[in-house]
Amino acid sequence: MRITLGVTGGVAAYKAAELVRLLQQDAFIVQVVMTRGAREFITPLTFAALSGQKVITDLFEKSSSGEANLESAIEHIAVAQRTDLLLVAPATADILAKFARGVADDFLTTLYLATTAPVVVAPAMNVNMWNHAATQENIQVLRARGVKIVNPDEGYLACGMTGAGRLAGQQEIVAAVRETLYAQKDLCGQTVLVTAGPTCEDLDPVRYLTNRSSGKMGYAVAEAAARRGARVFLISGPVSLETPAGVERINIRTAEEMQRAVAQKFPGSSIAIFAAAVADYRPTEMQPEKLKRNKEPLTIRLEPTPDILAEAARTKGDRLIVGFAAETQNVAENARKKLASKNADLLVANDVTAEGAGFDHDTNIVTLFSRDGRDLALPKLSKSEVAQRILDEVVRLRALRNVQHSPV
Ligand code: C5P
Repeated sequence: MRITLGVTGGVAAYKAAELVRLLQQDAFIVQVVMTRGAREFITPLTFAALSGQKVITDLFEKSSSGEANLESAIEHIAVAQRTDLLLVAPATADILAKFARGVADDFLTTLYLATTAPVVVAPAMNVNMWNHAATQENIQVLRARGVKIVNPDEGYLACGMTGAGRLAGQQEIVAAVRETLYAQKDLCGQTVLVTAGPTCEDLDPVRYLTNRSSGKMGYAVAEAAARRGARVFLISGPVSLETPAGVERINIRTAEEMQRAVAQKFPGSSIAIFAAAVADYRPTEMQPEKLKRNKEPLTIRLEPTPDILAEAARTKGDRLIVGFAAETQNVAENARKKLASKNADLLVANDVTAEGAGFDHDTNIVTLFSRDGRDLALPKLSKSEVAQRILDEVVRLRALRNVQHSPV
């Protein structure tokens, strides 16, 4: 698992070096991010040597010509977004205030807003700064938002005063990290099958029919499920996305290949989430040679592909099945019909014509239609946030089923 360790500018910054070692002993991969203040106390080189990874210091690294490098910013955010947890130790009063207010003026503050991973902060500062109403209010805001706070210890402080403000013990910080990571493991013991991306249906050796699916939604679901402790099989059409950490990916091109892969993995799964945009039709015949261009109109005969979800759902047994529906009109009505006709337990419906929803966006606007009659209309959210909400609903439906099935 990957941890991003944010180090901010306090005397306790040197203690973060030992923390890197402890986290590594727990088999975590540690990516260090340092604020400008932290670099006044300790050099990035120390952390680079300990973590074996380049330390991220700036949002925009300067290129050799002195220009801000946008690519490095994008790459940094991508690296950091792959993190399973963001830990900030030591956390200054300044960083707590910025997190609380949503200021994003450097890499660490931007990351805090960009990541959907859980956050743990271990404050360290002068006792009066810690006790100040402003700091305490910020702590309350962060705590209410789900940030885990590892309270500072009492003791002798670098400023010469005695009181609360000393960075908590490293073992205590690592324990908080472990606790936070494992608290979210509500899919432990589950095997989740996810289909994602488009399929390509060949016409001849160089041409094929496909659609605009980017695979982002399915990949976000696979990533979130793995983070929540599930074993995840991701059956993916051709997309340009990296395999999320801890996910087993099976690449396919055609609907037929996807059907075969699903048939293989479905029996061993307890939850199946069909996010792929499977081509509904394929050419009746694949031409062995490239079709020649000529002046006559060309008619291509298409045949329907198998409905992979519906077929799997016929033998679903105890498995929980989630389908997706991309609609352009009458979303609710079509979604409810589809939920029933496909024998699914949850249907994620989106109006692909809405602004900020559907193909190739990083955000989505969906409504979740459940078998138990609940409709949950979500606002515009990032696809990773939507993925979490889908899994929350899956967990709720499983719990409900267990209650109904348990003997009275
Ligand atoms: O019927 P429609 O294509 O709208 O259904 C969408 C849902 O069915 C999605 O969950 C999609 O992944 C799944 N599907 C499938 N196989 C198909 C067509 C759709 O699994 N051939």
